Amino acid sequence: MDTIVIRGGAVLDGEVTVSGAKNAALPLLFSTLLTPHRCVVRNVPVLRDIRTAVAVLRHLGARVESTADGHEIRVEAGAVDRSEAPYDLVKTMRASFLVLGPLLARFGRARVSTPGGCAIGARPVDLHLAGLQKMGARIRITEGYVEAEADRLRGAKIVLDMPSVGATQQLMMAASLAEGTTVIENAAREPENVCLAGALERMGARVSGAGTPEITVEGRPELDGADVTVIPDRIEAGTYMVAAAITGGSVVVGGARGDHLDAFTAKLREAGVTVREDPSGVRVSARGTLAAADVKTMPHPGFPTDLQAQFMALMTQAAGTSTITETIFENRFLHAQELVRMGAEIRADGNRAIIRGRAALSGAPVMATDLRASVCLVLAGLAARGTTRVARVYHLDRGYERVEEKLRALGADIRREAGTA
Ligand code: EPZ
Repeated sequence: MDTIVIRGGAVLDGEVTVSGAKNAALPLLFSTLLTPHRCVVRNVPVLRDIRTAVAVLRHLGARVESTADGHEIRVEAGAVDRSEAPYDLVKTMRASFLVLGPLLARFGRARVSTPGGCAIGARPVDLHLAGLQKMGARIRITEGYVEAEADRLRGAKIVLDMPSVGATQQLMMAASLAEGTTVIENAAREPENVCLAGALERMGARVSGAGTPEITVEGRPELDGADVTVIPDRIEAGTYMVAAAITGGSVVVGGARGDHLDAFTAKLREAGVTVREDPSGVRVSARGTLAAADVKTMPHPGFPTDLQAQFMALMTQAAGTSTITETIFENRFLHAQELVRMGAEIRADGNRAIIRGRAALSGAPVMATDLRASVCLVLAGLAARGTTRVARVYHLDRGYERVEEKLRALGADIRREAGTA
């Protein structure tokens, strides 16, 4: 497994361009299973998770090609002849569970491994299954697999116990081939779901209310192919905004959509960071002292849980004590202990972490446990004195395209050591 090595102290300056959003590209790729016709997905980020999604589609029998640079993927799922997604693929990437709804809606049956938990939480899929059952699916779980059958899914009114991003995606896709109208209440409002709704509309389904808590989907007997474009990655954008702030630099995050980051930007400003939005992206600079700001993660449009770890790294440098409350996942402070090893003063207790600022971070060998924790440690390494070695960066490669190249182009002293841990 590779290691990322950072020598801290550089003040970042310049422009970085965000890639397409991983968490929009994945459901878009799985939505191509809904139609036998050719789909084109553009602005796809080049990431491990995308390669895993392509492997799942090919395993099911879809024809998948990508351009040389990997940023455009064409899928024809006309030849899909299997409706089973095996454990070894789903355990590699839990988003593969999103093939359940499309396979069930199109073929009337599906056998998909349950994704299981991960480092940040149990990650159940009960809301996915309850919604599909409401639409007439007969579901049983045997040997760790969900086995689902339905002659034809019927539109239904579904009220989600919580605004689950994945369950909303799963049910929007299933509903687009169901007979009649489906209403999803308490739906997740994330921009990635709005992007998926747009794709389903281009395939012929009628989807209204995406981005609001109530989404209505008029199903169709068959869907057309579509040519869709992945939205910019707001989490990658937020990560580079923190990289600018934590080094006291000035960076333009090109391609970032300010309207996807309002709650996050508001907290950066509360921390004394200058954030200016213009049509080309977001300019971030932090010349003075950082102020402590309290954060509580919430479903969109609230502060995103996927930027919580990055913000915690920033708050270790703020003048004062801040509190971070994580309300989405039950175990998403694994990065706190690694930051403490670098000299941060953080006390994590349940879903709350107290961060005493002005920590003089010193480089250390640290270990990543999940995608966002790994990038948090890189950010801390940028601000630390000395050298930080972040091991297990396969987590990083799942969600950040060419991260060390993009940071090096901004002036960071960062390199990758192949296979040293
Ligand atoms: C998506 O995960 C993202 N992943 C996550 O990003 C992100 O953190 C999360 O949404 C929240 O924004 C992808 O899009 C691939 P949820 P998802 O269903 O869909 C509970 C990253 O770093 N829940 O909104 O799994 C669940 O346990 C990843 O890119 C149920 O209880 O998130 C969690 O506590 C990490 N039952 C909460 O809801 C269910 O059936 C939010 O989960 C489904 C979810």
